[in-house]
Amino acid sequence: MPDPIALVPLPRSVVWSEGVWQTDDPWEGLSVGLNDALPPTEYALSISPTGASLSAGSEAALADGRNTFAQIVTGASGQIPCVTISDRPKYAWRGLHIDVARHFLPIEELETFLDAMALHRLNVLHLHLTDDQGWRIEIKGYPRLTEVGAWRDQTLIGSMETPEESWTFDGTPHGGFYTQAELEGLVEYARRRGIMIVPEVDLPGHMQAAVAAYPELGNFPEKQVGVREVWGISDHVLGVSDEVFDFLRDVLTQVAGIFPAPYVHIGGDECPRTEWERSPAARAKLNEWGLTRISEIQGRFTQFASEVLREHGKRVIAWDEVLETHLPDDTIIMNWREAAGVRTAVDRGFQTIISTHDQTYLNYSQADPKDEPVALGSPHTVKDVYTAQFEPAKLSEDTQKLVLGLQAQLWSEYLPDAASFQYMAFPRLCALAERAWGSPEQSWEEFEERLRGHLPRLDAFGIRYRPLD
Ligand code: ACM
Repeated sequence: MPDPIALVPLPRSVVWSEGVWQTDDPWEGLSVGLNDALPPTEYALSISPTGASLSAGSEAALADGRNTFAQIVTGASGQIPCVTISDRPKYAWRGLHIDVARHFLPIEELETFLDAMALHRLNVLHLHLTDDQGWRIEIKGYPRLTEVGAWRDQTLIGSMETPEESWTFDGTPHGGFYTQAELEGLVEYARRRGIMIVPEVDLPGHMQAAVAAYPELGNFPEKQVGVREVWGISDHVLGVSDEVFDFLRDVLTQVAGIFPAPYVHIGGDECPRTEWERSPAARAKLNEWGLTRISEIQGRFTQFASEVLREHGKRVIAWDEVLETHLPDDTIIMNWREAAGVRTAVDRGFQTIISTHDQTYLNYSQADPKDEPVALGSPHTVKDVYTAQFEPAKLSEDTQKLVLGLQAQLWSEYLPDAASFQYMAFPRLCALAERAWGSPEQSWEEFEERLRGHLPRLDAFGIRYRPLD
């Protein structure tokens, strides 16, 4: 049995004492309280032979401390080491994005992810709730979003990189959605673990499922489209009629009511302009708005969504494409395309979350693709994640402050079930979580050894991770 404290990643300062603490129910012996003298992000955990105490400068930091304690307990098998830890995170935002649109995950599977996130002191679950291949959230007044938009008749088998003539489909309907009550329950489940859920409604592109449900939301309502059965980027984006903006107001208002987080993610990525270019209505609207470039239609969507959400006390987060058109100054940028984009965004004064695809997309292969399940992107090992240079070098102190955090992404085109979500997430998410917490620089070899000792905790949570090489 390795020494349990060696399994606890991240503490900035650990003071050893001799004894060990033995108890049947460690939570019983933990006293917890806020301490105004501590900075809001800091917690102090002390375990002695007579009991354990946790204090922190805020509720969020208390959750971090509780999750550290859970980590110690789950690694300890009966004996808990006596330690004093005081610690605080590098980044306020330590996120995991889960795409439940391409493949639906039942609520219980999201709860398992939340448990595992807490264990790793990740504190934001970003739920990608809508896309071309499925609409996953009940919206009152729009029943067809979930009756029609939540289901596709079949799904492409294997990689979409193969020639289109050779594509085959599974012939099996896929779908599902969450009721508002279920999502409220999930929010509470997450809150008790110190995790905030940030919903995403991807607009104005990635909307084919909604357009399939309500053709009048599209640019060519007379042409019925279905929920998309292949991956990639769909041309079927939102139209520009008043009806579309009324729809968005309703959706964003309900979403704002379900999720208490002060942020809503509005997507904004990969929005083709081909339909707007062909649509007389879109051109007429552009004139009415006094704009000339078709691309500015996307800017109008960003501004509209921001105004609606601001009325509900929310700030907008969006993928970095929104920087290409007009956007409100308080938009938070989620940078995914190029690592250099982080610097571009913060230099322009935008708060930014690092989610650069070749560093943080955990749906990319974990090793040589020929030995791994079908996946997008180029191989990205757990070592690559642990040793990545996430933040641009030499940011000024002022721009560094605009980097809110780091987030892992699980896009689910090739993740058909919960086991495959878990396989791709772990153990790379352990490495990303440690980097997001910002523990002092340690070698890959040191981390790898600690990670091997950590895997039994994942087993205890029933996580089906990819074994280390
Ligand atoms: C993205 O990968 N389209 C954000």
